[in-house]
Amino acid sequence: MKKYLFTPGPVPVPEDILLEMARPIIHHRTVEFENIFAEVREGLKYIFQTKEEVFVLASSGTGAMEGAVTNTLSRGDPALVVNGGKFGERWVKICQAYGIEVHEIKVEWGEAVDPSEIKGALSKNPSIRAVLIQASETSTGVMHPTKEIAEITKERDDVILIVDGISAVGVFPQPLDAWGIDVLIGGSQKAFMLPPGLAFAALSKKAWKFNERSNLPKFYFDFKRYLKDAKSNTTPWTPAITLVIGLASVLRNFKNEGLEKMFQRHARLAQATREAIKAIGLELYAKHSPSTALTAAISPGDINAGKIISGLRDRFGMTLAGGQDQAKGKIFRISHMGFIDRADIIAVISALECILRDLGYKFDFGAGSRRASDILGVE
Ligand SMILES: Cc1ncc(COP(=O)(O)O)c(C=O)c1O
Repeated sequence: MKKYLFTPGPVPVPEDILLEMARPIIHHRTVEFENIFAEVREGLKYIFQTKEEVFVLASSGTGAMEGAVTNTLSRGDPALVVNGGKFGERWVKICQAYGIEVHEIKVEWGEAVDPSEIKGALSKNPSIRAVLIQASETSTGVMHPTKEIAEITKERDDVILIVDGISAVGVFPQPLDAWGIDVLIGGSQKAFMLPPGLAFAALSKKAWKFNERSNLPKFYFDFKRYLKDAKSNTTPWTPAITLVIGLASVLRNFKNEGLEKMFQRHARLAQATREAIKAIGLELYAKHSPSTALTAAISPGDINAGKIISGLRDRFGMTLAGGQDQAKGKIFRISHMGFIDRADIIAVISALECILRDLGYKFDFGAGSRRASDILGVE
């Protein structure tokens, strides 16, 4: 049975990239690697839409989240954390682990934060040093309004905006320089269509000022060391060489496609998936701003979402993600980020309809595939 991966990370890896990474390993303290790394540095700046350096860390996304905190904040600093899902919750836990005074804006799962709440919280508590958000909260399939929040934080010299863009960078615009984001992070297993194992982080000039006074412990993820070594096209520690080689190829492909086209590609797949889900009669979990990276759908009636997921896996070889915590059993999530194309979406929607019909759900069979094909079947 052919396998399909529709999880919001990891995502499928294109064959040409896999083959590139299958080549014999090279040493990293060589001109050969430095040339590859120079290309990677340029390519990442293009995707992060910044002139600043983008660091390549040998870790999953959480490593970059931790580094974002330890490189900018100090013990006891108050920070405002938007918590509207599992990854917002992770910001809370990381901050707490480092003795940051966490002020939480709890957002109901499926909702996006209202920027006026952030403005209000900053006015009420002028000692807050940072706002931490997810550009796309992967656990709920919602996008928080980064641009509007950045408009608030960029007015203040003493507050930085730290954005977890792990399921956003390369999917929809998060221009670090143009919007005034201060820390932006990404991960290899999302839009970058690579295996897990690399995380990326970029800091604004304002964030570097915060770095000067930051007293939190840091060593492996000390961004200053990465900055120094990046200038000579290397990393402080042994890089994940194979993944960096894959990344160079991916970035070359991205440059050929163009950033705007990448955003359009994702937007169209997202639109088709959402509309197909609605045509089947299902509700989106996102009440506002559904993410361009993935679609979270609510399982109909009393059908446990786990049954839909196991049905798709067993009959069609398709792996989807379920919900976590309060959304467990209630939702299923289809990713349309990275190496997912039009035919993949048409296939998953059709397969979904077959499983739903067998589970006894009554709907206009074929309505979802028709909608998806209407949107995606033309040039
Ligand atoms: C928005 C977001 N933040 C953080 C993470 C954590 O990344 P990782 O699991 O790669 O450590 C993920 C991964 O799924 C994510 O989607």
